[in-house]
Amino acid sequence: TGEVAFANRLAIPPLAQSRLDERGRRIFELTAEESSHDFGGQRVPTWGFNGEYLGPTLRANRGEQVVVNVHNGLAEPTTVHWHGMHLPATMDGGPHQPIPPGQTWSPTWKIDQPAATLWYHPHPHGETAQHVYRGLAGMFLLDDGQTALPSTYGVDDIPLIVQDKQFDDGRLDESKSVLGDVGVLGDTIAVNGVTGPYLEVSTSLVRLRLLNASNARVYRFGLADDRDFQLVATDGGLLETPFTTNGIQLAPGERAEIVVGLRAGETAVLRSGPQDLGIGALGDRFVGGHDRLDILQLRAAPTLAPSAPVPGKLAEIARLDPKQAAQSRQFRVQARTINGRKMDMSRVDATVVKGTTELWTLTNNDGTPHSFHLHDVQFQVVKVGGSGPPPQLRGWKDTVFLRTGEPVQVIARFADYSDPNTPYMFHCHVLLHEDEGMMGQFVVVEPGQ
Ligand code: C2O
Ligand code: CU
Repeated sequence: TGEVAFANRLAIPPLAQSRLDERGRRIFELTAEESSHDFGGQRVPTWGFNGEYLGPTLRANRGEQVVVNVHNGLAEPTTVHWHGMHLPATMDGGPHQPIPPGQTWSPTWKIDQPAATLWYHPHPHGETAQHVYRGLAGMFLLDDGQTALPSTYGVDDIPLIVQDKQFDDGRLDESKSVLGDVGVLGDTIAVNGVTGPYLEVSTSLVRLRLLNASNARVYRFGLADDRDFQLVATDGGLLETPFTTNGIQLAPGERAEIVVGLRAGETAVLRSGPQDLGIGALGDRFVGGHDRLDILQLRAAPTLAPSAPVPGKLAEIARLDPKQAAQSRQFRVQARTINGRKMDMSRVDATVVKGTTELWTLTNNDGTPHSFHLHDVQFQVVKVGGSGPPPQLRGWKDTVFLRTGEPVQVIARFADYSDPNTPYMFHCHVLLHEDEGMMGQFVVVEPGQ
């Protein structure tokens, strides 16, 4: 994997059309369908929402009630999960809400969380890796009217859905990689379904919403000339203050928003450099840890419209207090299990009382990387190893990378929704790991239930 010719214009996923119904609810329509897509060289069979590959960007405001009519136009059942969304368990779109072929599922919920870059993707039991790899994924952006950042969609506010693909003879190679451990590890990067992409930029600052929607690959995003940029948001929303850095690592499922400054007339290359996976050279080899990958070329116009500077204060984040935690739990991920158990849809692994705060300690006992994703809530990282969180882990998170043997302690408050009969999931977001059993279930119940 080396230099790529940036010959293809970056596609921007269209903003999903929506309408307001008589009750003021915002209604979206999504149809999962079989198709084919040209990634920038050859056309291969794919799946997409409302189109060839990936899906439109859904966008809603805090306080709005949304309805998404999800139609399954595939020949097999699928589900659609709203990754990062705080919502009732029956609306979550996990393996307990399958949509049979030809059917429509219409979850509805109230958006009640800060502005953030969320996403949606299938979550069918044991089939998530395949459904996502074939192309079912899209962004779900939340607004709260507070943001003084570049925010003209497709102009200075750019969604980047980053995936690695393996092309094989007119199709996407879906076989597990020869290395076998993580599933597909492609040698070609696609951004928004385009390989070798470039983006023309007309403003002095550009906000990039990075989503690692790859099945297994971990990226460390930075600029090829190592210039600094500002990290402004993580999974669940804006950081309190921008963090100036030259790299941000994202495991599958994680998001980051960065603001990059450009000089008139220049080109700059977004690249993924050597990651810090904490697993040594052998483990790095299993997940492409040393791969250098060109992601996207930014082409600055000869004159750039000046952007307003990034505000020094972005958001208020009330810290959750570990001393207030009603419950502490340990989760050890190892060999396709969590705490030694494989996913079982009929077993509840944890029962959480609504309105309480819990402290979860997550440990990777394997020699290979895992990430940990928790449904329903955004959490805060309390500790990584023995230390407080680094700046890039001080905002809201729903997915966190676990280095081997370095416990990550997170805290979350399980507010608003309870349902003793419908579980939420927690799992590794390396999709093959999830499918092979590295997943568990929790329910949220009323106090005394
Ligand atoms: Cu992005 Cu349980 O998933
Ligand atoms: Cu894993």
